[in-house]
Amino acid sequence: MSDTLAQRLHIDYPILLAPMAGEAAKAPLVAAVSNAGGLGVLGAGYMSPEKLLATIAEIRALTSRPFGVNLFVMAPGERDRTGVEAMTAALARYHAELGIAAPTLPASLEENYHDQMEAVLSAGVPVFSFTFGVPSAPHLDALKAAGTWVMGTATTVDEAVELERRGVDAIVAQGAEAGGHRGTFLSDAFENAMIGTMALVPQVADAVRLPVVAAGGIADRRGVRAARALGASAVAVGTAFLSTIESSVSDAYKLALTGPGSRVTGLTRVFSGRQARGVRNRYMDEMQAFEASAPAYPVTNALTRDMRQAASRQGRAEFLSLWAGQAAPLARNWSVAQLMEELREGLGQADLG
Ligand SMILES: Cc1cc2nc3c(=O)[nH]c(=O)nc-3n(C[C@H](O)[C@H](O)[C@H](O)COP(=O)(O)O)c2cc1C
Repeated sequence: MSDTLAQRLHIDYPILLAPMAGEAAKAPLVAAVSNAGGLGVLGAGYMSPEKLLATIAEIRALTSRPFGVNLFVMAPGERDRTGVEAMTAALARYHAELGIAAPTLPASLEENYHDQMEAVLSAGVPVFSFTFGVPSAPHLDALKAAGTWVMGTATTVDEAVELERRGVDAIVAQGAEAGGHRGTFLSDAFENAMIGTMALVPQVADAVRLPVVAAGGIADRRGVRAARALGASAVAVGTAFLSTIESSVSDAYKLALTGPGSRVTGLTRVFSGRQARGVRNRYMDEMQAFEASAPAYPVTNALTRDMRQAASRQGRAEFLSLWAGQAAPLARNWSVAQLMEELREGLGQADLG
């Protein structure tokens, strides 16, 4: 199975850079993973179509090997702004502390998903992956017609079965350990979709005929070996790549990942309005009262953007969304090639050809 997946993707090893939108979404990291024989996947969820196309061109200039692009699937329509006033008032003191203008809700909450998808289609990328939902049938058909290999993110067995029914080529089984946003799209109670990688991967492997890519908590050879034993054809590694030399996240973020504080991660809605896992920090702790009432994604994400950007510029990790998985303490500040070598050690002889 894994041979098939690596062969079909024309990569040397079934090891993927998990897509990570935001600060980490830069061409050099994606290209470094592809050049090391894995598959770099660009988290393009926050990119304008122009930026997306420019970044794809940059990746192509840095590697001749396959790579992927990932988007957040967002339904069109009005966004629910309930709770904006209370949230804005709560954010004011952090803006004051950072010395920036008082918080306001920007006119543009998010990039237009349909325009992003048009950009992806026009670029003809080798691999497309998605989260938060499922692309429409015409979009999936267009991707296939372009020869693009399509992977969807599932956090439950039901979601994996639904993705198979919709015709994707592979399932990313995202366990509860995973850093960043949950991909959950069928369950209206997020806590029902908090299944650990260890339990989720074998169940998904039993339930679908497609190759399964395990994601969540995999950071070294032991994680790779475990994922393969559970029935995964490939692994997607996020957090462990965030702290590499090639990763463009701020030093404050890298220090938070490799320092003792990363032993404690938590799920929160107060940065974006959607459940995501990150290293616990002061903002998450102080804003706990807003866990239920923070406006839904992408409204809170837009509201906290100025604070997060100022915190990044000023090196203030206490106000950053330090997305990270439960294996963050295994992350090291070394090169992509070194991390790839470590992960490759977890593959069996068959994978190494
Ligand atoms: C900083 C960060 C950003 C992420 N952004 C995305 C994203 O844009 N799209 C996506 O499908 N998953 C995203 N994820 C989830 C990862 O693709 C993957 O599921 C997760 O990192 C795997 O768990 P790990 O961090 O323990 O390796 C993100 C994760 C992190 C840590």
